[in-house]
Amino acid sequence: MASESIGKTLGVALALCIVCAVVVSAAAVILRPAQEVNKALDLKTNILAAAGLLKVGVDVEKQFEQITIRVVDMESGRFSDAVNPLTYDQRKASKDPAMSVELAADADPAKIRRRAYYATVYVVEGPAGIEKMILPIKGYGLWSTLYGFLALESDFETVAGIGFYEHAETPGLGGEIDNPGWRASWVGKTAYAAGERVITVIKGKVDRQRDGADYQIDGLAGATLTTRGVDNLVKYWLGNDGFAPLIQHLKSQEA
Ligand SMILES: Cc1cc2nc3c(=O)[nH]c(=O)nc-3n(C[C@H](O)[C@H](O)[C@H](O)COP(=O)(O)O)c2cc1C
Repeated sequence: MASESIGKTLGVALALCIVCAVVVSAAAVILRPAQEVNKALDLKTNILAAAGLLKVGVDVEKQFEQITIRVVDMESGRFSDAVNPLTYDQRKASKDPAMSVELAADADPAKIRRRAYYATVYVVEGPAGIEKMILPIKGYGLWSTLYGFLALESDFETVAGIGFYEHAETPGLGGEIDNPGWRASWVGKTAYAAGERVITVIKGKVDRQRDGADYQIDGLAGATLTTRGVDNLVKYWLGNDGFAPLIQHLKSQEA
């Protein structure tokens, strides 16, 4: 009788709860460093993939050695030493009022609300200068903020690639922004012409016979709202409040 008392039942349940809590907490603490390493590796994989540089089967850390991480002062469009590129967290900074500027609704097509003063960009440099420039981009789709990278070739006009590494759009609809075929359709498109941002995602299919096909991207069928989000965020980040000042500066150095 005593072994079936309420007190004993509660005692066993409590002991079980404590054991489980300790196991789960220990697992979380022990696995955190491994998770951080994997997260950093995933980001590097996505940076390389967005620029069309990722080679399957080759160590990502080794491949990432060709990338230099730089910080850009978004106001001046110049590279900056104000923060350490290796430790600076742009996503965190964009939520910190001391590290970011609030955007007025009419100047915020990507619906990001705040933009960090400094941005982390990824550069591939060769003997003749910058070969690829990989820019962080983010903005709202239909259900979520899309985080990704857009890479430009050494002319700072031609798209080298695009990729999103985090979003919560619907698989098969907005989630098709991850479709390799759609991503490939960006490669070689014209982002800037005569210093102006021209690239745009349209609704429907691009008519390859008409003028403008070289800077238009097919919209995704059944996912107009997500693709409009992509169009808005690309326009914002390649525009004057985004990376246009940096691109103009780099192009003037090149001339
Ligand atoms: C459950 C559900 C999930 C959806 N997810 C998305 C999405 O991730 N992205 C998107 O643009 N549209 C999504 N839609 C569809 C939109 O509501 C809208 O119909 C669509 O964007 C219009 O695109 P269309 O003009 O190409 O048909 C979803 C609809 C439903 C019912």
